[in-house]
Amino acid sequence: MKTIDLSIKIGYCQMEELPADEQQLVEAAVRATKNSYSPYSHFAVGAALRLENGTVVTGANQENAAYPSGLCAERTAIFSAQAQYPDQPVTALAIAARNGGSLVKSPIVPCGACRQVAVEIEDRYKHPIRVFLYGTDGIYVVDTIKDLLPLYFVGDAMK
Ligand code: THU
Repeated sequence: MKTIDLSIKIGYCQMEELPADEQQLVEAAVRATKNSYSPYSHFAVGAALRLENGTVVTGANQENAAYPSGLCAERTAIFSAQAQYPDQPVTALAIAARNGGSLVKSPIVPCGACRQVAVEIEDRYKHPIRVFLYGTDGIYVVDTIKDLLPLYFVGDAMK
């Protein structure tokens, strides 16, 4: 059997190493954690994305007593952006989280469903999304969502 190499390289840095516009996006994600409605998990996630025209759209996880009816911060932000600015590619996405009120130490990573939704946005606009995953210890920096979802599924498969 042959093997196929799908290895990726991601960046890891401190906030001060990022340029000002990227720091501002991460800070917007940190602020957005305050808009979370998470009375069940007490895990408050914030997401901030930048559109090609410079607009920043934020989202926060919204939970529900019927648990699966809730939605993650990333998809809240992505769907909100798509609904308001349907012609604007997403160029960057930052995520932050608080566990029981405190910002998490290790970088927060998006769930599989949010990766899948974000991949389709890259595919739709043919534009990579640069991703910042915040933790107080450091920040993961990823050049494209596809690096977080090898062998991703897109609609072409159904043609
Ligand atoms: N959550 C997010 O908002 N984003 C993620 O990437 C992971 C999980 C939310 C969903 C739920 O409200 C809470 O965190 C606990 O899973």
